[in-house]
Amino acid sequence: MEVIVEQTVEAMSRAAALEVAEILNAKPNAVLGMATGTTPLGLYKELAQMCRRGEVDFSHVTTFNLDEYVGLPVTHPQSFHYFMHENFFKHVNIPLENIHIPSGTASNYRAFCDWYENRIKECGGIDLQILGIGSDGHIAFNEPGSSLSSRTRLKTLAKPTIDDNSRFFNNRDEVPIYAITMGVGTILEARKCLLLANGKNKADAVSAMVEGPVTSMITASALQLHEDTKVFLDESAAGKLKMRDYYTWIQNKKPGAPQR
Ligand code: GLP
Repeated sequence: MEVIVEQTVEAMSRAAALEVAEILNAKPNAVLGMATGTTPLGLYKELAQMCRRGEVDFSHVTTFNLDEYVGLPVTHPQSFHYFMHENFFKHVNIPLENIHIPSGTASNYRAFCDWYENRIKECGGIDLQILGIGSDGHIAFNEPGSSLSSRTRLKTLAKPTIDDNSRFFNNRDEVPIYAITMGVGTILEARKCLLLANGKNKADAVSAMVEGPVTSMITASALQLHEDTKVFLDESAAGKLKMRDYYTWIQNKKPGAPQR
């Protein structure tokens, strides 16, 4: 894992956007794995601006989202379909037919999940997976205890996640209990992963992910087994990392690196 600590959430988003742009410019038909949540909003805004300025092109890009709540139609304001269209897809030049988001209203979830996994393979696999992290250390909706080999499936949400996400609903009872999520094993097959985290409420999860043992209790820790993962943090999310100074030292010692 490469850990990059930026001073602000804006700088973190900008650094991650430059990374995405570099990949798209090297491979214009790249397959991107997309994440929802508050964390990647700055990244999506940066990418949309870069697209408007002609610095990055999404016309040949294919996307696969990590997850979706079960039971929410695509028009529901809290569905991840709605989130992605409002916050990203409608601001870039991606063809609608290239967008894949798990269905929250499938009649046969098992068949849908198998189809989703196959579709990722048919498209050549995910080149770059964007990730956030839950306060309990989950990636996508792979809650504590999820198998580190898990595939796309129906998952019951954990109470801390329902509590965290209730801020987006009128009340806690409206938060769906189930989600369709890519598995940890699915995510680990992406060629490159970019995980973003900001804010002090993520500091414990980040330190467990980066410096704790690999454990299904913190599913993000499985990224320690991934050969090409970059973790972009702001100062607050990096606040509990024991080797923080070393990560900055590594960044500063890279050829041509700006001094931090
Ligand atoms: C949800 C999503 C995750 C996301 C997490 C954190 O659980 N399934 O993909 O990383 O929320 O969200 P936020 O960025 O809003 O803190």
